[in-house]
Amino acid sequence: MHYRALGRTGWKVSEISFGAWAIGGSWGKVSDEDSMAALHKAIDCGVNFIDTADVYGNGRSERLIAQLKKDRKEEIIAATKAGRRLPRQTVEGYSRQNLTAWIEDSLRNLSTDALDLVQLHGPPTELYHRPEAFAVLDDLVKAGKVRYYGVSVEKVEEALRAIEWPNVQTVQIIFNCFRQRPAELFFAQARQKQIGILARVPLASGLLTGKLRRDSVFAPDDHRNFNRHGEAFDVGETFAGVDYDVGLASVEEIRQLLPAGFSMSQFALRWILMFDAVSCAIPGGKRPEQVADNCRASDLPSLTPDAMAAVKSIYDEKIRPLVQARW
Ligand SMILES: NC(=O)c1ccc[n+]([C@@H]2O[C@H](COP(=O)([O-])OP(=O)(O)OC[C@H]3O[C@@H](n4cnc5c(N)ncnc54)[C@H](OP(=O)(O)O)[C@@H]3O)[C@@H](O)[C@H]2O)c1
Repeated sequence: MHYRALGRTGWKVSEISFGAWAIGGSWGKVSDEDSMAALHKAIDCGVNFIDTADVYGNGRSERLIAQLKKDRKEEIIAATKAGRRLPRQTVEGYSRQNLTAWIEDSLRNLSTDALDLVQLHGPPTELYHRPEAFAVLDDLVKAGKVRYYGVSVEKVEEALRAIEWPNVQTVQIIFNCFRQRPAELFFAQARQKQIGILARVPLASGLLTGKLRRDSVFAPDDHRNFNRHGEAFDVGETFAGVDYDVGLASVEEIRQLLPAGFSMSQFALRWILMFDAVSCAIPGGKRPEQVADNCRASDLPSLTPDAMAAVKSIYDEKIRPLVQARW
């Protein structure tokens, strides 16, 4: 495992880290036993950074991470998020009272006195144009409840606006073979400001693992079933917002590019790591085998310029028209 600087925090994070949404909920049935085994495997593989949120299983994901931190002696940085407990996303919902209460809940669930990193969880675009929530976060840092804060955004424009706030340390954004736009303008600006970048949904919800088929079946409580068209939250969070059939066809083209010794997941993750601006990718993992497969991407050789160009042209031809203008 290799490590990269997380913006100005002074932390060096594993370039393949761990996304802890699926071990909380919304991905079908996952047992706590499997989740704990997946988390332990991640630490065994050198992962030192875990991304979660208060709403992943209503605190379940955070509590599993607290258990992991009790069980292990290694330093583990836990990034959580706040904002999705709101019944409706409004700027007013990110009030001092609400933010403080959410942070207190996360402190309890993560069993700690100070949260390592708190990210605003996909707030409305307007919030980035207003100082109030950032002032509250500054106060929570001063009070010692939060070490650093950042944002988790849907759109590149939100990311560009968010990094105008001087104490925003990190931006979490969807970045993968099917979502290439962040690499254009945002990465350059983020580098200039030394912002840590967390690449989320790196496997396009499993599409880029190459294992999904036209007739794959997802449980009713898996967002790949219930949010396929954005019924519950932003459609970009499910298969990166790419039409399922177009995604499957594009995956078959990517499969032709695999160098010897790479799994599809490793190729997709290695592609992300080719961008220096990225601090880490945070693939979700439900089982130890998935985690081990993903972590190996860090030690694989760089992709060739030809392979990078081929992924770009698959994106330009098939995917860009579906996603580029939207996010
Ligand atoms: N708004 C936000 O802030 C937001 C939104 C989305 C995600 N996130 C964060 O980003 C993280 C990653 O995104 P994600 O979990 O949505 O999607 P992802 O990482 O693109 O896909 C994860 C899923 O792919 C499958 N998988 C993973 N590794 C595999 C492997 N090696 N081989 C085969 N299958 C594999 C697993 O599901 P199956 O086994 O069921 O196929 C896993 O749950 C989340 O966990 C969360 O921390 C944040």
